[in-house]
Amino acid sequence: MHIVKKIGVIGAGQMGRGIAQVAIQSGFETFLYDSFSESLEKGSIFIKEQMLRGVSKGKWTEEASKKAQELLHLETSLEGLSDCDLVIEAATERKDIKFKIFQDCDKIIKEGAILASNTSSISITEIAAQTRRPSKVAGMHFMNPVPVMKLVEGIKGLETSEETFESVASVSKTMGKIFVKANDTPGFAVNRILMPMINEAVYALYEGVASVEDIDSAMKLGTNQPMGPLELADFIGLDTCLAIMGVLHDGLGDTKYRPCPLLKKYVLAGRLGKKSGRGFYEY
Ligand code: CAA
Repeated sequence: MHIVKKIGVIGAGQMGRGIAQVAIQSGFETFLYDSFSESLEKGSIFIKEQMLRGVSKGKWTEEASKKAQELLHLETSLEGLSDCDLVIEAATERKDIKFKIFQDCDKIIKEGAILASNTSSISITEIAAQTRRPSKVAGMHFMNPVPVMKLVEGIKGLETSEETFESVASVSKTMGKIFVKANDTPGFAVNRILMPMINEAVYALYEGVASVEDIDSAMKLGTNQPMGPLELADFIGLDTCLAIMGVLHDGLGDTKYRPCPLLKKYVLAGRLGKKSGRGFYEY
């Protein structure tokens, strides 16, 4: 198995900063990269605050928090990640952005290192094909909020080697996560099931079945979900939900995956959920 000591994380947004946080908490030397220094700064402040919150809640000691934070390096250039054994990409969910990152990583990150993507729906086989090391590329799909959610969905592309897959499974376990294997099909397992449920909730609203609050209350109280589907859509980001529905619709070619017109309209209006201050709810 490939030994992983140094981890690179690409993107300091809500997923990347969460991945970096669990990586340092698990003892990995971690290099967090973002091309926007402002995002990097925001991400590192968020991690620091989360670590301090953990101390005040008695989850870990001040010493452990300090030790973990010393493992975090902030990088504004991809070259800073060149010596990493594993790089986890958590950039915006767009093919063009991810493809370019993997092409660059392939040139810059040391030979033999594993390149993983946190993509929620883009084909790992296609991402791997952007590199000259497709056997070293795999999917590591973390859930939001990363420090809280137990799952890492592991995705094996067509060319992913057994050794690479075992290594990412082992890193996930060291991070305290449960690693579940999914095949490289549109949406993998989580979003193949979760997104049609969210999309259906938007259809229910669109067709006047019930109000936003009542749809969420019905699902929360009736099926024991921590958040109703519309609140969860706001939490994930409506643009991300729409992008994933697009991948399911195009990739599986079945009209049952067509994105709800109301979801499209909200995204066009800039109502992207929690991150933009307004989605199905106001924040
Ligand atoms: N970052 C880090 N920790 C967070 C957090 C964040 N953004 N938000 C909440 N937490 C922590 C809190 O610190 C708290 O920790 P302690 O128990 O140690 O005190 C814990 O989570 C619970 O938080 P709260 O008491 O404030 O709130 P809650 O009980 O309502 O739980 C929640 C919040 C964990 C987000 C819960 O509502 C939940 O599980 N929601 C569903 C989340 C979900 O389904 N995520 C998957 C989305 S799909 C995805 O990510 C993949 C994709 O491809 C789209």
